[in-house]
Amino acid sequence: MYKIQTLNKIARCGLDQLSRDTYEAATEILNPDAILVRSADMHSMELPPSVLAIARAGAGVNNIPIPACTQRGIVVFNTPGANANGVKELVIASLFLSSRNLYEGISWANSLAGTENIPEQIEKGKSRFVGPEIQGKTLGVIGLGAIGVMVANSAANLGMRVLGLDPFISVEAAWKLSHEVIKAPNLDMLLAESDYITIHIPLKDDTKGLFNAERISRMKKGARLLNFSRSGLVDNTAVKTAIAEGQLGGYVIDFPEAELLGVDKVLCIPHLGASTPESEDNCAIMAAEQLREYLERGNIKNS
Ligand code: MLT
Repeated sequence: MYKIQTLNKIARCGLDQLSRDTYEAATEILNPDAILVRSADMHSMELPPSVLAIARAGAGVNNIPIPACTQRGIVVFNTPGANANGVKELVIASLFLSSRNLYEGISWANSLAGTENIPEQIEKGKSRFVGPEIQGKTLGVIGLGAIGVMVANSAANLGMRVLGLDPFISVEAAWKLSHEVIKAPNLDMLLAESDYITIHIPLKDDTKGLFNAERISRMKKGARLLNFSRSGLVDNTAVKTAIAEGQLGGYVIDFPEAELLGVDKVLCIPHLGASTPESEDNCAIMAAEQLREYLERGNIKNS
């Protein structure tokens, strides 16, 4: 009987992959063989000596102490692509949300509840929420992994000019030539030409703070930045300054960053990119299958 410790709520259909005759899965379990985790931060957790593998039901592995796992020979899996469509849909929604000032407009409309002459107030007040259409504008996509590719293709379908940048794979390969693709030769060109930039790269030592004051200053004036990867990729103080100066037209981040909450033109989403039943099921199934393959057959996928 293999014992799996589950941190976070893991979709039932994932746990159902682990036959009940062979597996016992619980939040509290003695001497687990493996851990199944979503976003719980494991850095301060004492890893039981029995643990052989950790599966993350998601793409990023920043919540897992990788060096400690490597040292102990613990195999770490993630589930690349399993939640890509869920994240892509929210990125595309956020392009509209930010560009059309929807959050601000809806909040203002709600604030009129209980007041007099609402139609007149709307007529007079709505002009401040005018925002550009995205068709014909340029979107820079940094990182053409599973999510970046889907975002790029959807944006192209919406009539955007899309610039793709990825140091590891050719844009042609990533896009499978399904669209008119422009390969950004470097970050400078993408920064200078994009009306919107969306980031889809992991947080690592060499990507930390990628969007600092200097890089933001090289963006088009009034361009908008979307971050559905990790908050450490962007310098929050630089964002606040650039928004106050009109250099940045808006910032959407899929993490509730304390210092950005309530800041004008910043939309902090409470990490909802992968929060769809479909993505949660896909990630849980893929993570459970990886654990099963490893524990029962010693096969390693996506580690
Ligand atoms: C990811 O890295 O894929 C996301 O953080 C998934 C999640 O929301 O748990």
